[in-house]
Amino acid sequence: MKHLLKLGDLSPEEILEILDLADQLKYELKKGIPHPRLQGKTLGMIFTKSSTRTRVSFETGMYQLGGQALFLSDKDIQLGRGEPINDTARVLSRYLDGIMIRTFKQSDVEDLASYGSIPIINGLTDYCHPCQVLADLMTIREYKGSFRGLKFGFIGDGNNMANSLIVGTIKMGIPCTIACPEGYRPDAKIVEWGKSTGLLTITDDVEEAAKDADILYTDVWASMGQEGETEIRRKAFRGYQINTKLLSLAHKDVMVQHCLPAHRGEEITAEAFEAHADEIFEEAENRLHAQKAVMVLLMEHQ
Ligand code: CP
Ligand code: NVA
Repeated sequence: MKHLLKLGDLSPEEILEILDLADQLKYELKKGIPHPRLQGKTLGMIFTKSSTRTRVSFETGMYQLGGQALFLSDKDIQLGRGEPINDTARVLSRYLDGIMIRTFKQSDVEDLASYGSIPIINGLTDYCHPCQVLADLMTIREYKGSFRGLKFGFIGDGNNMANSLIVGTIKMGIPCTIACPEGYRPDAKIVEWGKSTGLLTITDDVEEAAKDADILYTDVWASMGQEGETEIRRKAFRGYQINTKLLSLAHKDVMVQHCLPAHRGEEITAEAFEAHADEIFEEAENRLHAQKAVMVLLMEHQ
């Protein structure tokens, strides 16, 4: 593994290696065992979209690993004034040991990797959110003990989260059902790949996704960059909500996941959210551990 650009690039064994190391780093952190595995190294963090979890977990994670992180908002660096991504990649590769980037176009992340000479980590694009799904898988395994015999259901927009969740769950052998309105389906190529495995179902019926589910996942109806579509989307997604009634169709020990931030009253009710808050915030915490594992595997022997 040279970069983390999308989960589709990783084998199931590579995903499991990340999750196992994430579990170990979480254990060590809780026990107060230091793990300065990236001492003297610097991660650059380019953001052209907002973030709470991604920024804070990468920055804190780098500190805990003995290194440091630089927050590079596109409002401050020349990228935001039109300096090309290929020049940015070649310059930053001479100072840094790795780059995490959150932006709109997946092609910008891929270009950073091909023009630069250091590991690139995708911290969310319009296409996918691999770091989030590594933390989600870590949390699923923590709560359910293993990936065997589980059923995963996603309710809502066929967006970056849905794309990465399809790939992540199926690579772990978990059957995945995505309930989304017609016109808001996940990426066509990912759907084609998912269907070829026999483990993916796409439906517009939320009850089909919820029925007997061990994990129910949702995300906002309007993602970053889609603020102008908020009203249209509110109408299109009406009913695509995790609520008590929908949860009653799921397995009795169903866990609810949400990448956050959550919009109560839209994709999830306040009641359903609070009933599953422990799982949701453990999932948020696991961003830290999963990303530390990714950084160690990519940057330790650079
Ligand atoms: N889930 C997630 O990526 O959160 P942030 O947008 O706060 O980073
Ligand atoms: N789909 C959301 C995920 C946020 C973590 C967005 O892209 O805004």
